[in-house]
Amino acid sequence: MRNLTIVGAQFGDEGKGKIIDYLSSYFDIGVRFNGGENAGHTVVNSGKQVKFHLIPASFFGVKTLVLANGVVLNLEKLYSEIRELSTISKFPDLFISKLAHIVTPAHFKRDSLLEGVRGKSQIGTTLKGIGPAYESKYGRYGIRIIDLLQDDVYEKFNLLSQIYNIQISKEEIEKIIGIAREFSGNLIDTADFLLENIERGKKILFEAAQGTFIDIEFGTYPYVTSSHTISGGVTVGTGLPPKYIEKVMGVAKSYITRVGEGYFPTEIFGNEAEELRKLGWEYGATTGRPRRVGYFDIPMLRKSAKLNGFDYIALTKVDVLGKFKKIKVAISYEVNGSEVKEYDPLLKVDKVNYEEFKPWDDNPNNLEKFIDFIESEIKIPIPIVGNGEDRDKIIVREKIY
Ligand code: GDP
Ligand code: IMO
Ligand code: MG
Repeated sequence: MRNLTIVGAQFGDEGKGKIIDYLSSYFDIGVRFNGGENAGHTVVNSGKQVKFHLIPASFFGVKTLVLANGVVLNLEKLYSEIRELSTISKFPDLFISKLAHIVTPAHFKRDSLLEGVRGKSQIGTTLKGIGPAYESKYGRYGIRIIDLLQDDVYEKFNLLSQIYNIQISKEEIEKIIGIAREFSGNLIDTADFLLENIERGKKILFEAAQGTFIDIEFGTYPYVTSSHTISGGVTVGTGLPPKYIEKVMGVAKSYITRVGEGYFPTEIFGNEAEELRKLGWEYGATTGRPRRVGYFDIPMLRKSAKLNGFDYIALTKVDVLGKFKKIKVAISYEVNGSEVKEYDPLLKVDKVNYEEFKPWDDNPNNLEKFIDFIESEIKIPIPIVGNGEDRDKIIVREKIY
């Protein structure tokens, strides 16, 4: 196996950062293909926490990093994240797609404005201008990094400003252009670059931001992000044909969390929710918001496995769940009097059917039973299990590299 794509199997924050970091040393190139600084991917090394927002979480293991065309970039944030990470470790070679669209202060303002207009039905975005940046891209008035190096760039800012009716100051524009010039030596055609490297035998780790059910197409629309978060996102997000995707790993938390609005069937509330939130320290890596919590959901993972074509599942935070006194797993739903075994964002679930499991904090056999149960239901191997925050807290059940 050469190339692997790692995606979030639920609503994001599944612990992708830790799994990506763990596997990264087996790869040459780490690629982000979607989203922007709305992502927060945490890696903990000997108690030291590093949060990646735009830079791929494969940072510590690979020699080369790529931000592909499917990503939207706040260049100021990118610059500061590179500076910060450079103080921690030698920075790998970084390449950026010429075609990646940028996020401007006008996109930040529009994000807040749109949330305000929605009022009670707000999405609960990260307010990082992500939705508007993709809106501009698909509306065909977006600005790509390559555009920032052309003479007519002011006209592009002018059009954006007119469409949004939001002022963008000359200083703001000059700052963005200035940073783009600094990156001009890092700009590439991602599709060519990756194909050439694959032909030279290099191994590529593609990492998704966010999670399957906040995908723009297949998520709980409109409570979604604005990019393709599923494995198929690799192709349009990099320009590589589908045959190069090869293997796909889904990262699933052993319970479910969600930040922002939108229904999830196994959500729990009150003291029980508060206890799980505290045990797992479920507060957003990007915005610090408390994450909503709920039980592990097999019908949801089943759908996720279908949409992404999982070859493997990495299960995370079993150390947290093992401490929880009530361990439940959703096995099916009741919908209009029928039992339904596969999640669909359009379903109106009347009741969730659960199976209970014994805590494993002092009995590892109970953990094995929990994992075996999920494997037998989904019929996809779980070779890697996260049982702690630190990068070495991993149970390898089967060596895949
Ligand atoms: P990502 O967005 O999917 O990369 O996940 P986040 O980094 O936003 O959130 C996951 C949180 O759980 C982070 O604080 C991680 O350090 C932490 N984490 C990841 N895996 C494990 C695990 O197996 N056990 C524990 N206790 N924490 C974990
Ligand atoms: P990582 O990569 C969890 C959520 C937001 C909001 C919705 C839309 O760390 O898993 P946006 O700012 O993208 O327009 O917000 O999507 N969201 C995430 N939730 N993890 C993430 O990223 C997220 N990125 C966006 O909370 O509900
Ligand atoms: Mg996160």
